[in-house]
Amino acid sequence: MKIVSTIQEVRECVNAWKKEGKTVGFVPTMGYLHEGHMSLIDAARENDKVVVSIFVNPMQFGPNEDLASYPRDLEHDAKMCEAHKVDLIFHPTSEEMYGDSFYSYVDMNVLTEDLCGLTRPVHFRGVCTVVTKLFNIVMPDKAYFGQKDAQQLAIIRRMVKDLNMPLQIVGCPIVREPDGLAKSSRNTYLSEEEHRAALVLSRSVFLARDMIGRGERDCKAVLAAMTAEIEKEPLARIDYVKAVDFENIQPVTQIKGNVLIAIAVYIGKTRLIDNLVTDIIE
Ligand code: PAJ
Repeated sequence: MKIVSTIQEVRECVNAWKKEGKTVGFVPTMGYLHEGHMSLIDAARENDKVVVSIFVNPMQFGPNEDLASYPRDLEHDAKMCEAHKVDLIFHPTSEEMYGDSFYSYVDMNVLTEDLCGLTRPVHFRGVCTVVTKLFNIVMPDKAYFGQKDAQQLAIIRRMVKDLNMPLQIVGCPIVREPDGLAKSSRNTYLSEEEHRAALVLSRSVFLARDMIGRGERDCKAVLAAMTAEIEKEPLARIDYVKAVDFENIQPVTQIKGNVLIAIAVYIGKTRLIDNLVTDIIE
């Protein structure tokens, strides 16, 4: 496994593979890797070569967000990648990615305006811009994204479609702790007591899943039950509990087709997200 920090080194490596006719799978990350990231890497093994980027992208953090405290551990990340047979890690500096001035952005309307876009107004512009740059640098055949960040996945799919980017996006299911909590690099911010309180997120998602499984199709009823469940937890403060169309992130009232039921909840100072995507054909 190679670890490189310059765009030129990535290009040389990938160009050599492409000359040999190899396919390239790509997993963009911000590091502090866990089993959720590993599931994307394992899925990417369907390609001949697997590239992982590790870059805490300043452009996608708002001024009062956790850029400075975001956890970082390259040594641990490299060990995990090695164990999962990654071929190349791209670990650039901010200077390598953005130079000393940067004026171009990739942005999107509609899909970015609700859910996390409301509390994080510059976030998705930063994500779209860095992911476009990474796609242009790595030039993968396929790129892998987690449904954990379901709005991000919908936005990336739309960006690739709208801008005719020549690659395929693969969505991968949410990986959870044995107790139900969705794995996240931000879980390290939680104290033991907060971790216990954070289980209210997955509990409310499972509650929704069970209601829908029993035939409930009214979003209002599902969202009300989830809200009531979350409000039982004194350490939890709701940012949003919403149901939207998974493709265009527009509000829906009935559970039909691929509905994204998404929540964001503060546990103390830590903002956590979780979701469920329905697949109801009737
Ligand atoms: P990061 O939060 O490191 O996540 C990298 C990828 O791992 C994303 O596609 C995310 O959805 C996926 N992932 C995280 N936790 C997961 C879990 N529990 N189960 C399944 N997949 C999971 O998302 C980002 O970084 C950044 O926004 C990025 C796309 C790299 C752009 O900077």
